[in-house]
Amino acid sequence: MPHLLSPIPRRAGHPRPLVIIGSQEKTLLGFRGRTAFQKLAKPFLFDRTLVGAAPNLTTARRQNRFWVDATRGLSARYTRGSFYKGLAATMRRAKITIVGAGNVGATCAHWCAAAELGDVVLLDIPQMEDMPKGKALDLMQASPIMGFDSRVIGTNSYADSAGSDVVVVTAGIARKPGMSRDDLLSTNAKIVTSVAQQIKATSPEAVVIVVSNPLDAMVQQVWKTTGFPAQRVIGQAGVLDTARYRTFLAMELGVSVEDISALLMGGHGDTMVPIPSCTCVGGIPVTQLIAPARLEEIVTRTRNGGAEIVALLKTGSAYYAPAAATAQMVEAVVRDKKRLIPCAAYCDKEYGVGGYYVGVPVILGTAGVEKIVELKLNESETQAFKNSVDAVKGLVASMEKLLQA
Ligand code: NAI
Ligand code: 2OP
Repeated sequence: MPHLLSPIPRRAGHPRPLVIIGSQEKTLLGFRGRTAFQKLAKPFLFDRTLVGAAPNLTTARRQNRFWVDATRGLSARYTRGSFYKGLAATMRRAKITIVGAGNVGATCAHWCAAAELGDVVLLDIPQMEDMPKGKALDLMQASPIMGFDSRVIGTNSYADSAGSDVVVVTAGIARKPGMSRDDLLSTNAKIVTSVAQQIKATSPEAVVIVVSNPLDAMVQQVWKTTGFPAQRVIGQAGVLDTARYRTFLAMELGVSVEDISALLMGGHGDTMVPIPSCTCVGGIPVTQLIAPARLEEIVTRTRNGGAEIVALLKTGSAYYAPAAATAQMVEAVVRDKKRLIPCAAYCDKEYGVGGYYVGVPVILGTAGVEKIVELKLNESETQAFKNSVDAVKGLVASMEKLLQA
């Protein structure tokens, strides 16, 4: 029986994913095309997370996929030349726009380009003049040394970002010493509203990842302004908060960060909720390795992780780890990784939130939030999560009042 393989998902920057029909794809890959395939498809084709079955041929055609009938041999529909040409078109790089070429934006561009997640457009306001161009050119000149082929351009115009597959929003002001995230509310709400209007007009199919603070309110505002499906508008906070927690746990235990998996939920603020039952070190529950009082100290340090860096830097807030966290989310989307990570996602019935963005575990792939994972929380976790959601609701209410004033 013929079957379909569709290795390249549509919104990953590959508008016409390749469909191979038939069970002879092994022959197809094994035959003289293998080398060319590997060259063209690197790193996508052999990433098995990208291989999925299309339900039927009609669906594949409707999605305008490039397809090859391997059951009838290449010559039946395509010469080898046109096949490879089609394949090359299929392998178009993802287009990633980063709005805000400041500390987080430029560092995120760096991680994305170095990992060859796609071509990167770094965008800032006209008042910043050629600054984004300068950073982009500087980054491009690192490419022969670091060995990446992503193109990076800097611009002040949304025309250059048109048709992006992913847009990251880092536009806004950052926290200075003595300022809380909530102090940023009024200024950044206006900034992200205008950014969201431009994204809607120029990249209507994009997955949007919001980073600007106060995160949980900004992502709600971007979602509302774009009118995009909620699964395509996501906030970055949980990956960063969890990375901080994992770093502190690794430091405490003297083990590799790679062996620590953890989960934090709720808002990106002082009310974030650790879930100890989901925190393991090499598979061992953290509660068997660290005494409760010490674990509480580590959680407190994590909650204050952003403020700790602000106090040290004095001129702004953290950006290496926030940018790396954001790049991990970009990767999950453009490579359809189906990562199970905590993100600020729109929750309605989920966890009984009632229509707000809040940090929850999600499966992140090419469509954005593909699933919100609902955990059973114990009594104290449920109460802490409820307090965090209430804080987010309060923040959104204040933002709406400020925007109406
Ligand atoms: P930054 O000040 O270095 O950069 C912000 C950039 O945004 C500036 O270059 C500015 O010109 C630009 N900008 C302002 N208005 C704009 C507009 N309308 N369109 C395009 N660009 C615009 O600040 P940084 O450190 O990069 O932080 C950016 C934002 O990210 C802040 O709101 C910060 O609080 C937030 N943040 C969020 C984190 C999270 O985990 N969610 C972590 C770290 C920072
Ligand atoms: C942080 O957590 C400021 O939200 C930013 O570092």
